[in-house]
Amino acid sequence: MSDYALELLSISCTFHSKDDPGQRYTAVADTTLRIKAGEFVSVVGPTGCGKSTLLNVGAGLLEPSSGTVKVFGQTLSGVNARAGYMFQTEALMPWRSAIDNVMVGLQYRGVPDAEARKQAEAWLARVGLSGFGDRYPHQLSGGMRKRVALAQTLVLDPDVILMDEPFSALDIQTRQLMENEVLELWSAKKKAVLFITHDLDEAIAMSDRVVVLSAGPATHPIGEFAIDLARPRDVAEVRTQPRFVELHTQIWEVLRDEVLKGYAQQLKKAA
Ligand SMILES: Nc1ncnc2c1ncn2[C@@H]1O[C@H](COP(=O)(O)OP(=O)(O)OP(=O)(O)O)[C@@H](O)[C@H]1O
Ligand SMILES: [Mg+2]
Repeated sequence: MSDYALELLSISCTFHSKDDPGQRYTAVADTTLRIKAGEFVSVVGPTGCGKSTLLNVGAGLLEPSSGTVKVFGQTLSGVNARAGYMFQTEALMPWRSAIDNVMVGLQYRGVPDAEARKQAEAWLARVGLSGFGDRYPHQLSGGMRKRVALAQTLVLDPDVILMDEPFSALDIQTRQLMENEVLELWSAKKKAVLFITHDLDEAIAMSDRVVVLSAGPATHPIGEFAIDLARPRDVAEVRTQPRFVELHTQIWEVLRDEVLKGYAQQLKKAA
């Protein structure tokens, strides 16, 4: 079996404009990214560079224009059934209660309702929401909704976890609590994680490895850093360690120019 849980190999993604099919935009160009089983990898890059696009490719939701995706050594075609995906945008079904949202994936898999409910209740408890199962998404706070989404992803026990800026909308305290919870859950099961974030502090605090993407168009990795901070980590405490500061300085050196380029491009697009 392959050492790698997920491999994105020479991936390029070109989009065609709906109005003018002759107009093309290459978001991602020749990107290779490998994640070992049990490894926690973060990808950082400026806004609009192609992070979500890459994750969609890994999830099998978007077919790349060229390149190959492998999952545990097997070439992927169609949806990646071994991956759980926590989306950037809120993806809970508003007409379903919290518990029903967590159960839905199991039900699709044909797990009997009683068993699905039992597992969903256990996961709601694990993310600190026992007693909230009957609430609908609009009756929960933003942080609670993210917890439900986390339970919804993890209840399926995916071998590969794809997370797209899952906590960026949260206040800093809630965010750090959830980051620590994710690390604790991850350390118990050691699944492969591909974590997308804007936030370099978050990337370093959580990961085994941080990959920096260039600003678009034709985004590709321009730096890769092993994060040799001891585990278990507390995401708030780890930031005070000298080694953290050192890594932050090194990575920011590479990321800074790309962020400025990305920002300038957004302004140009908006003009
Ligand atoms: N379906 C699509 N059709 C056309 N262009 C697209 C499509 N999806 C993404 N793009 C473009 O590709 C680029 C990368 O988009 P993507 O959503 O991957 O960026 P991102 O890095 O996730 O950004 P953010 O950090 O803001 O979430 C953007 O310029 C976007 O406009
Ligand atoms: Mg995105």
